[in-house]
Amino acid sequence: GVLEHELQRLLATSAEARLDLNRKELSGFRNLFSRFLRAKTFVDWSKIQPLPEHAIQPYAQLPGYDKTAIAAMLSKLVVVKLNGGLGTSMGCKGPKSVISVRNDLTFLDLTMQQIQTLNKTYDVDVPLVLMNSFNTDDDTQKLLKKYANVKVAVHSFCQSRYPRINKETLMPIVSDIESGDHEAWYPPGHGNFYEAFHNSGLLDKFIAEGKEYCFLSNIDNMGATVDLSILNFVLNASSAGDAAPEFVMEVTDKTRADVKGGTLIQYENRLMLLEIAQVPKDYVDEFKSVSKFRIFNTNNLWVHLGAMKRNVEQQTLDMEVIVNPKHLDRGLDVIQLETAAGAAIKNFKGACGINVPRSRFLPVKKTSDLLLLMSNLYDIDNGSLTLSGLRSFPTTPLVKLGSSFDKVKDFLGRFSGIPDLLELDHLTVSGDVTFGKDVSLKGTVIIIANHGERIDIPPGSILENKIVSGNLRI
Ligand code: UTP
Repeated sequence: GVLEHELQRLLATSAEARLDLNRKELSGFRNLFSRFLRAKTFVDWSKIQPLPEHAIQPYAQLPGYDKTAIAAMLSKLVVVKLNGGLGTSMGCKGPKSVISVRNDLTFLDLTMQQIQTLNKTYDVDVPLVLMNSFNTDDDTQKLLKKYANVKVAVHSFCQSRYPRINKETLMPIVSDIESGDHEAWYPPGHGNFYEAFHNSGLLDKFIAEGKEYCFLSNIDNMGATVDLSILNFVLNASSAGDAAPEFVMEVTDKTRADVKGGTLIQYENRLMLLEIAQVPKDYVDEFKSVSKFRIFNTNNLWVHLGAMKRNVEQQTLDMEVIVNPKHLDRGLDVIQLETAAGAAIKNFKGACGINVPRSRFLPVKKTSDLLLLMSNLYDIDNGSLTLSGLRSFPTTPLVKLGSSFDKVKDFLGRFSGIPDLLELDHLTVSGDVTFGKDVSLKGTVIIIANHGERIDIPPGSILENKIVSGNLRI
């Protein structure tokens, strides 16, 4: 009641030209907020059922496809990259997609190269869609300008902008919708994709053009390339007698480094994404266990466009509300209500998981991830990164960089050149450390500069199974 009154008052402060948009967005927010009030916080652990037999299919056992049908398959596909988030955890002010990964090529550049190559190879016209947010749209549009002459159809749209609410009063902290107070608003997570895509008119447009599925993934996941076996599976599974899957989630085997990722469970007779936030306290250790919940969500999702339209229009998407608390610079505690795209799986028919190789999950969450991708561990070919054939074993090194490496700018400033990592197993760096050009790191290397000390690894050094600390010479 009180909130409704406040939302109406807010809407009245809208400029005429934006009235329609503001009305739509506030109505989306209103729905999310009322689901937040109704929602149960935790799943009922005793109600988790065993996964049905074909719920998660191994990638290696997907049916083969007819090579002459590739172009026809691709003509039904739309590729979507989630680009609404900021690289705040890596100290970037703008979108993560503008970070350079290799030879000045950003995530966005590499994505463009991938789609361009796909289109050239198969003589098709797969469109690329970017979901931006009010935080990322301007920077992304600028970056896109240089592709004006490239023959990839790029469409972008903005996801919704919802008001942050005061933690105590649960009321929006903004009083004037046009005030330009950026901190008072937030993009409500990638679960907002379905509604925002529909609102943008793009969903209807693509359906009218005969597109059937979209493949969505995080823009920072360099492993999320268009996979033809999965595309064939979603398009043609029904001809093999199974129901066509309206939703496929790519999952991959959990390692001890991924214990916090969401997993798939069977719950109330449907496949459901279980996130750590929904796990009752007493079961968190069980949730994290690599043996009980073996896989986690890569956020590479394949969704049937018609089914998406049905779900959005009938308002049957029932994604769990994620409550994200924030402390604003001005000293205010707020919460923002979000949803995750994978949580929609339970509202689609014939949904399943596909257990894909780890190489399809290559995200950049921290600068240590960036270090690996920038190094000679990965080969780059037409925008795709693959583990170098020169590495003698197929695992990637475990890298821990101290807090002086957290921000991309600081991280880059500490390397005169990216070291050779081909034979690295484990690297830990802490404190004020810099690396000269042409350094090689092999086996297990630990470099620790204590408080007040600085360690400069000289150019050309080869460190193999070494511990370097302030008072030890190399
Ligand atoms: P996440 O926010 O889930 O993970 O975004 P992240 O990239 O690790 O974010 P930080 O570094 O913890 O803050 C996953 C993907 O979803 C997009 C992001 O741009 C990223 O590609 N995203 C996220 C949106 O498009 N909209 C959102 O509201 C949130």
